[in-house]
Amino acid sequence: MTDKQRQILVTSALPYANGAIHLGHMLEYIQTDIWARFQRAQGHECYFAWADDAHGTPVMLWARAEGKPPEELIDMMNEEHKQDFRDFGISFDNYSSTHSEYNRQIVEHIYRQLDAAGHIERRFIKQLYDEQEGMFLPDRFIRGTCPKCGTPDQYGDSCESCGSTYAPTDLIEPRSAVSGSTPVMRESEHYFFRLADFEALLGDWTTSGALQPEIANKLKEWFTDGLRDWDISRDAPYFGFRIPGTEDKYFYVWVDAPVGYIASFRELCEREGLDFDAWWSPASTAEVYHFIGKDIVYFHTLFWPAMLMGAGFRTPTAVYAHGFLTVDGAKMSKSRGTFIRGRTYLDHLNPDYLRYYFAAKLGPGTGDIDLNLEDFVQRVNSDVVGKVVNIASRCAGFIQRHFGGRLADDLPRPELYADFVSARERIGAEFEERNYQSAIRSIMALADEANRYIDDEKPWQQIKEGGREAEVHGVCSQGINLFRVLITLLAPVLPFTADRAAAFLGTPVDDWQAIDEPLLGAALNTFQPLLTRVDPVKVQAMVEHSKESLQPAAATAEAAVATEVADIEPEITIDDFTRVDLRVARIVTAETVEGADRLLRLTLDIGNATRAVFAGIRSAYQPAELEGRLTVMVANLKPRKMRFGVSEGMVLAAGPGGKDIFLLEPDDGAQPGQRVT
Ligand code: 2FM
Ligand code: ZN
Repeated sequence: MTDKQRQILVTSALPYANGAIHLGHMLEYIQTDIWARFQRAQGHECYFAWADDAHGTPVMLWARAEGKPPEELIDMMNEEHKQDFRDFGISFDNYSSTHSEYNRQIVEHIYRQLDAAGHIERRFIKQLYDEQEGMFLPDRFIRGTCPKCGTPDQYGDSCESCGSTYAPTDLIEPRSAVSGSTPVMRESEHYFFRLADFEALLGDWTTSGALQPEIANKLKEWFTDGLRDWDISRDAPYFGFRIPGTEDKYFYVWVDAPVGYIASFRELCEREGLDFDAWWSPASTAEVYHFIGKDIVYFHTLFWPAMLMGAGFRTPTAVYAHGFLTVDGAKMSKSRGTFIRGRTYLDHLNPDYLRYYFAAKLGPGTGDIDLNLEDFVQRVNSDVVGKVVNIASRCAGFIQRHFGGRLADDLPRPELYADFVSARERIGAEFEERNYQSAIRSIMALADEANRYIDDEKPWQQIKEGGREAEVHGVCSQGINLFRVLITLLAPVLPFTADRAAAFLGTPVDDWQAIDEPLLGAALNTFQPLLTRVDPVKVQAMVEHSKESLQPAAATAEAAVATEVADIEPEITIDDFTRVDLRVARIVTAETVEGADRLLRLTLDIGNATRAVFAGIRSAYQPAELEGRLTVMVANLKPRKMRFGVSEGMVLAAGPGGKDIFLLEPDDGAQPGQRVT
C-alpha cells in the first residue's frame, strides 16, 4: 500500500428511472461501495458520484400512461432509489439525475466539440413508425414472429427462443407494442457519431490496462469487425435533451447517460468546492473508475471513451465489469419469488447480510454470481455471526462483569496482534484488486485464529478457578483487540455492524492505519448485539412477498373483514361444521395495505401451501409482532376478490374490534397445516 493520497472517483452504472431497484442492481452497487469505502479507509480522497438514468422512450410512455409530466415521475423515483441505497449503506457522495441542467450543459458541450471536429454525420434512414401513436418505434417496442425460427411475439431486435438477432424490419407481421397497430416504414434524418475516427486512440486505450483481460479480448473482436457509426439521435416525441440547432431531434438516452457521471461529479464539486478540472481535464492525475455490468461494456469501452477523447476530457482509468446475478442457480424469476426488490429485501433482512454474501462471492472477473438462499443463511451465520461477532460477545461479558468495562494495559500476546495487523497489507491488495472473495477468506482465517486463541485460553474456566483474574483480563483484552482489527478490515463490507462495533469500542473503525496500535486501558461501552443470526423464516417471507407483489391488483369489492361478534348464530349441523376446513397456520409475513386502514395482508403457511389473506386486524396489531406466530385459519373459504387483491381464506380472531381484537393461537407444539377439529 502506498502512503501517497490518491484522488479517486468511482461510479456505478446509472439505474433507469422507470423501475424499482432489485438485487441484481444491488450486486453492482455493493461492489462499488465496498471499493469506495475501502479507498477512504486508506486515507484516499475518494468520491462516489452517481445518478438516475432518466431519459428514453420507456419513461416517456410511462408518463403518458400515468397522465403526468415525466419530471414528476422521475423525481419520485429518484427519492425512492436514494432511500433504497441509503438503507443498503451505499455511501454515494452525490446522487443526481441525468435530467439535470449540469448534464444538459455538458452533453451540449461534448456534442458541439464532436460536431466542430467533424465527428458527427447526418443522413436519412428508414425506420418503423407507429402512425397511431405518431412515433418511431425503438426495437424493443416492436413485436412480431421471428424470421429465423417462426416463434411468435418476439422483440424487434432478437428472438428469446432461438437467440438470433435481426433488424426489426425482418420480423414477420411486425406490430407496435405501444398501440398494437401495424407500423409503416418512414424516413427521417439521423445524427451519427463516427466511432471509427477514434480507432487508433481507442486501440491504445483499450490495451492500456484499463480493462479486464476477458473484456480486452472481446474488444479485439469488435475492432476486427470494424467500428461502426453510432446513431445518437431520436425523433420527437422523446423524453431527453434536444439536440442544439434542431427542432425535433433528441439525444439518444445512451449519449447523455454516461455524461451523467461527469455531471453528477460536477454538482458535487460545486457543492463541496472541489476542483472539477483536477479530475476531468486531460492532464488530470486523479483516477476514474466505472463499475458496470458486462452487458453494457460496448457503451463504456468504445462510445464513452471516444466521446471523452473527442471532447477534450480525460478517459477513465479503468472500467470494471461484473457478471450477472442468479438466485438459487437460475435467472431471477418473478413466479418463483426470486426476483427480489431491494425494498422487499430491506423489509425483511439486514443489509449487511447481503453485503457480506456478495463480498464473499465477488472476484475481479466477469463470472456470474449466484445468491443461493440456503447458503446465504448458512454462510452469514457461520462467518459473520459465528466467527467475527462471536469474538466480541465472548470477551465483552468478562470485561464488563469483572473488569469494570476497561481493557487491560498490556496484551499477553502482542506478536499475535502484530500478525493480525500485518495481514492488512495483503488483504488491502485483495480489496484493491476487487478480489473480495479472497479478502473475505483471509479475514475469516484470522477470525478462526482468534477463536482458537480464546478456545485454548478458556477464560470461562480460568475465572472459575479464581486467582487468575489478570490472565482472564489479558485474554479478553487480546480478544477484543483482535476483533477490532477484524471489524476494521470488514468495515467496508459491513458498515452497519462496524458502526455498532465502533460504538462498543468507543473508537472509530473506519481507518486502517488506526489499528497500528492496540487499544489498551480504554473503557468499553456496553455491549449490544452487533448482528443477529439470519432467520430462515424471514428469508422465506421475503421470497413469498416477492411472489405476492406480482399478484394482479385486480378486484372490485371493498375490503370488509370486520370481526363483529353478534349474538349466537342459528344452529348448524355437525356436517356443516366439518365442511369448514380449519387449519393451523404460521403467519409468514404481515404487512399494511395502502389505502385500507383496517386491513393487514397476511401470508400464511399451512404446511404444504401458502395463502394470502386480508384480515381486518390492523387496529389491534403491528405487522411485525405477527410474523412467525401461529394462528388458525379457514382454509377452504372461496377466494374473494377485494380491491387490494384476492383473499384466500380467513383467520380466526375474537373481540369487539378496535384495539380489542385477539387473534386465536393454538397451544405450543401445533404445526402449520394440522387440521383443527
Ligand atoms: O443499463 C442500464 O441500466 C443503464 N441505465 C446504465 C447506464 S450507465 C451510464 F452510462 F450511465
Ligand atoms: Zn427465433
